[in-house]
Amino acid sequence: MFATLEAILSLLLPAAVVARTYPTSETTTTLDNLQTAFNGESNAHHRYAAFAKKADEEGYGPVASLFRAASRAEEIHANNHAAVIRMLGAVPKATIEMPNVKTTKENLAAAMEGEIYERDKMYPPFVEEAKASKNSAALKTITYALKTEAEHARLYSQALKNLDAMRGKAMTYYVCTVCGYTVEKLDFLRCLVCGMTKDKYEAVS
Ligand SMILES: [Fe+2]
Ligand SMILES: [Fe+2]
Repeated sequence: MFATLEAILSLLLPAAVVARTYPTSETTTTLDNLQTAFNGESNAHHRYAAFAKKADEEGYGPVASLFRAASRAEEIHANNHAAVIRMLGAVPKATIEMPNVKTTKENLAAAMEGEIYERDKMYPPFVEEAKASKNSAALKTITYALKTEAEHARLYSQALKNLDAMRGKAMTYYVCTVCGYTVEKLDFLRCLVCGMTKDKYEAVS
């Protein structure tokens, strides 16, 4: 008679540890989604920092500020995803690729496409999966990122349309340190995405 390794471990270890060692198929899918999102956000964080440097070199100060603010937001998303990945008993993994830096106009277009992809294709099924597996921590961090990426897509689109006016000095954006939401003005009391008070916002220029 052969006992499974899981059955043997369940005799030796508390249930919570066994559950963490052997996630169910549902949590494995949520975990896979979070790893994909962690990888995407980590790369976007680095890519936008490189795009900001290029925008500064080309004299597009306000665009450089927008890229720096979005870079900070993606870092917050990556950290939030990483915390849930660790809660599920895994180690966050990202493969950082060398950013493909072109002209600022091209970089803005590429960044906008990336945000639209995350908003429309990547995150919506992750939301559904997190709901189905009743993982509220995953649902929260995924929703924070989805709502922020929608706003990043809008801000990049706006910058692209007004690129000629986006030359000169840096401007200030504000990034919520809880959810990453990115705004041009702090004309509200509570974050529109996570509901925290606006003192949680950080100025990025
Ligand atoms: Fe974004
Ligand atoms: Fe927030």
